[in-house]
Amino acid sequence: MTVAIKKVGVIGSGQMGNGIAHVAALAGFDVVLNDVSADRLKSALATINGNLTRQVAKKTISEDERKKALDRIASAEALDALADCDLVIETAIEKEETKRKIFHEVCAVLKPEAIVATNSSSISITRLAASTDRPEKFIGIHFMNPVPAMELVELIRGIATDDMTFDTAKAFVARLGKQVAVSEDFPAFIVNRILLPMINEAIYTLYEGVGNVEAIDAAMKLGAHHPMGPLELADFIGLDTCLSIMQVLHEGLADSKYRPCPLLVKYVEAGWLGRKTQRGFYDYRGDRPIPTR
Ligand SMILES: NC(=O)c1ccc[n+]([C@@H]2O[C@H](COP(=O)([O-])OP(=O)(O)OC[C@H]3O[C@@H](n4cnc5c(N)ncnc54)[C@H](O)[C@@H]3O)[C@@H](O)[C@H]2O)c1
Repeated sequence: MTVAIKKVGVIGSGQMGNGIAHVAALAGFDVVLNDVSADRLKSALATINGNLTRQVAKKTISEDERKKALDRIASAEALDALADCDLVIETAIEKEETKRKIFHEVCAVLKPEAIVATNSSSISITRLAASTDRPEKFIGIHFMNPVPAMELVELIRGIATDDMTFDTAKAFVARLGKQVAVSEDFPAFIVNRILLPMINEAIYTLYEGVGNVEAIDAAMKLGAHHPMGPLELADFIGLDTCLSIMQVLHEGLADSKYRPCPLLVKYVEAGWLGRKTQRGFYDYRGDRPIPTR
């Protein structure tokens, strides 16, 4: 048994939010994209249009599909605009306090049967569910970055998530043309439990002077056939998000092997968050990325 989903709310219009809005609108859902920042909303819509236009140029979608998808996306700074959504996906910053506050506010305006999901990369679904008025209708729907290109979505049930919510989320992901991997509710789930310690270790390798940025990325691209080097990938994910995930792993599993590298902490403290701020392990302000170490 599944619930019929027609209208999807997306809270947070950063790199993940704009990607989720993009794929949902293309799959025929009406979308309301929300953010606290009007500038972020404006740039998210421009990004979605740019990415759809690129798909038209590559002939993976038609011009008509691009136009219809864009027409299906409304944007709003107030959560009230999500009142008639059947499914809401929260994808604001990876901070538990922020997410809890959002759930508290959005549940007050949603209809009782609406499903609430989080795109959190690492935080306990059971704990986030407990901050809502509907733990049985709460689930983790964890997309990969960049959303339009990546095939996988992790589904994570909290302890109270009911079968109808799980089956509805599974059907929704299938409508987006993506594959599901089911993860138990443990810190950072499957993909990031494996990926982030590798990235953190690459940052330790840099911190300890084993290699510079260029050598570490080249080593993993050419020596392990990774499509991106780990430091390039960290910049792509966002160093604030990487640090938050490592903190969740460190605190949640209480194992020193997950200690966030002090160099990662320093970059985040500097506001060097990677591509989104134009500086991280690479400097993106010129014609081509220049390593910062
Ligand atoms: N970056 C990745 O590779 C990746 C992959 C999978 C999941 N995620 C998860 O997705 C979420 C978003 O990550 P991102 O990379 O898109 O971050 P981002 O920094 O690009 O975007 C976050 C957005 O949330 C908005 N925001 C902050 N507080 C808000 C609030 N109270 N209400 C509404 N919007 C608010 C910000 O203005 C910003 O536009 C995080 O939970 C992250 O862990 C990230």
